[in-house]
Amino acid sequence: MGGLLQKETVLVTGASGQLGQSLQYVLQQQLAHQKTSVVLDSTPIHEQMATFPAGHDYVFLDRNQLDLSPRESLSQDIDRLIEEHRPKAFIHAAAYTQVDAAELDEQAAFHLNETATDLLAKACAARNILFIYLSTDFVFGGKNIHQKPFLPLDPIAPEGVYARSKAAGEKAVQDAAGPHYIVRTSWVFSPFGHNFVKTMLRLAQERLSFLSEQNQQTSDRNPPTISVVADQFGCPTSALDLARALILLIATKASPYGIHHYSNTGPAHWAQLAGAIFEQRNLPITVKPISTEDFAAPAPRPHFSVLENTLDPKARHWKEALAEALSILKTA
Ligand SMILES: NC(=O)c1ccc[n+]([C@@H]2O[C@H](COP(=O)([O-])OP(=O)(O)OC[C@H]3O[C@@H](n4cnc5c(N)ncnc54)[C@H](OP(=O)(O)O)[C@@H]3O)[C@@H](O)[C@H]2O)c1
Repeated sequence: MGGLLQKETVLVTGASGQLGQSLQYVLQQQLAHQKTSVVLDSTPIHEQMATFPAGHDYVFLDRNQLDLSPRESLSQDIDRLIEEHRPKAFIHAAAYTQVDAAELDEQAAFHLNETATDLLAKACAARNILFIYLSTDFVFGGKNIHQKPFLPLDPIAPEGVYARSKAAGEKAVQDAAGPHYIVRTSWVFSPFGHNFVKTMLRLAQERLSFLSEQNQQTSDRNPPTISVVADQFGCPTSALDLARALILLIATKASPYGIHHYSNTGPAHWAQLAGAIFEQRNLPITVKPISTEDFAAPAPRPHFSVLENTLDPKARHWKEALAEALSILKTA
């Protein structure tokens, strides 16, 4: 073939989601920086990935290429797609992620997060294709009174439909018994899709426009207030950094197969994350801390789900990663 090495393929589900779009963004960034491929071990992943070539062709599947909704032919459709692409690795980033809606739609959440994951993981295992399943800090429900970051092999206690369906997906991947990584992450934000950061910016904009419609002078008005939960602790995580970590993981396989955790550094509660968003954007908003009970969301949330990052213990602080996401949002 003209002496050219054919790159191996990585298939990715969930192309339109936060992680799917972040993977595409990071790969495009890498293409622009492909002049050098030197990786220094001590360099944090978010810096390495600016110069590390993916080494694979990534093929992104959205719902049009692979709809994972229930139907009789789903298994055959998956087999056909995998035979067509013969990938080296498979990132399963599609998921039912609406935590509260899942409480009323258990069947749909379990279909996507457990059944579809099971079919994909088995199809990959049968062909010895590396399977990467994204999972969640929500598998660590309960109170965790010791407040120690969770390690991958700590016992899980999923509460609520979403958390249980994702835990069932983890088990399906393990039972398929092929080469796999289960990568649990937490509190994902990005310039893309739906997430807490974008919700806070929208709420802030609405409150500030309301005030300016009322024609109030800055001097005689109090800053608008947004109430945010302050008794749940987790690690906010940039989908861009997660994407970089996954690309590096597939290229190097530097971590042993099995369960891993990836989050940015620094535990926080939601009100702290909201405060940082408004501060970095210079928005005059006051964050009012409230309790989980005050917020009264339909689905239970872990009170403490801080993850010990086993893929990149030197991951940067979430505030630095937030600044990157906000700067991309500004120019998007
Ligand atoms: N977001 C978080 O805070 C968070 C935290 C911990 C773990 N995770 C995990 O990380 C992974 C990626 O999350 P994310 O934030 O990128 O999710 P996301 O933005 O909600 O994206 C979910 C993706 O799944 C796709 N999808 C849904 N139903 C589908 C179907 N029937 N067939 C094909 N595709 C379908 C969606 O496509 P459409 O756009 O067409 O609906 C979308 O591309 C998930 O496994 C999630 O559980 C997320």
